[in-house]
Amino acid sequence: MRTPAARTRAGSAALAATAALLLGLAAAPAAVAGADHRQDATTLDGLAHRSGRYFGSAVDNPELADTDYANLLGSEFGQTTPGNGMKWYATEPRRGVFDFTAGDEIVNYARSKGLTVRGHTLLWHSQLPDWLSSGTWSADELRSILKNHITQVVKHYRGKVFAWDVANEIMNEDGTYRDNIFYKTIGPSYIADALRWARAADPKAKLYLNDYNVEGTGAKSDAYYALIQRLKADGVPVDGFGMQAHLALQYGFPYQMRQNIQRFADLGVDVAVTELDIRMILPADATRTAQQADWYGQVTSACLAVRRCVGITLWGYSDRHSWIPAAFEGQGAALPWDEELRRKPAYDAIGAALTAAAVRRTG
Ligand code: XIL
Repeated sequence: MRTPAARTRAGSAALAATAALLLGLAAAPAAVAGADHRQDATTLDGLAHRSGRYFGSAVDNPELADTDYANLLGSEFGQTTPGNGMKWYATEPRRGVFDFTAGDEIVNYARSKGLTVRGHTLLWHSQLPDWLSSGTWSADELRSILKNHITQVVKHYRGKVFAWDVANEIMNEDGTYRDNIFYKTIGPSYIADALRWARAADPKAKLYLNDYNVEGTGAKSDAYYALIQRLKADGVPVDGFGMQAHLALQYGFPYQMRQNIQRFADLGVDVAVTELDIRMILPADATRTAQQADWYGQVTSACLAVRRCVGITLWGYSDRHSWIPAAFEGQGAALPWDEELRRKPAYDAIGAALTAAAVRRTG
């Protein structure tokens, strides 16, 4: 039974809510940002939460100084991924010397805003420190370097990072293993070892393999399907498959994306869309922008159609801070917010897809 005092509190809360509604303040941000946006049906994360998913955006350290950008990130999204701050060059700039400054900055920001953090990435062929990529290593030496790196980084973020991209981009387009320094030196066993070391360092973190051009069916996603099936059969800890989803209008929508997500889920792993952006050849025009919106809606629906597709992360949420123009000449306009942080049609398409899924779930 509620005490009179509790009734009074509830009564005045109801009154305040009515007053706020009348004043049009219903969605006024909480004074201390917590996980409130998770319940707020006017944000993408709030809408996703109604279907048990998160909606996130990556952030690169310098962007946190852009206050408008950082505030919108903190209110609209429920999850973030450091764009660069946890990569090997940043976390172990000299052999055996770890620097968690950049990653910690993002974890602290995320905590202050009530966002969860995906860790990215423990092992990749790119953005390695020079000491590592230009060194000459025996298989045993490199194995112990890799083990130490994974152990130190994952331990440092234990309890702060809920999922790790353990291995990033380890396959070629034709489904053969990428000839990265680990494959060349150690052979394919480095993949299972990396997963085991990550598990030992944080038994609770979800461990992912992550790559691009795997959103649809094809040789590359077939290779991951076979690899995950084998790892599972061997008892290797693999919990998830990350589809980066760096899409481009000129290359067509990924073939059978929903079915592809489903077959990975059926293997017994989670799936996440980890780095979504949808670029176009510039200039953007109304037709391309409308097609982009349609694709954002389609990706969202494909994920939400599969129970084990746990969430979606944009690779930055606005054209103000996007890696695309620097990486793909003449292309851009890839995100749902423009350079002025105004919403584009893609925003509404994502919102509509999230809403439709929430209605299906409760209806
Ligand atoms: C990108 C970052 O966004 C850029 O700032 C950096 O210069 C290069 O890397 N796939 C990945 C991400 O897994 O780590 C990449 O991030 C984008 C492609």
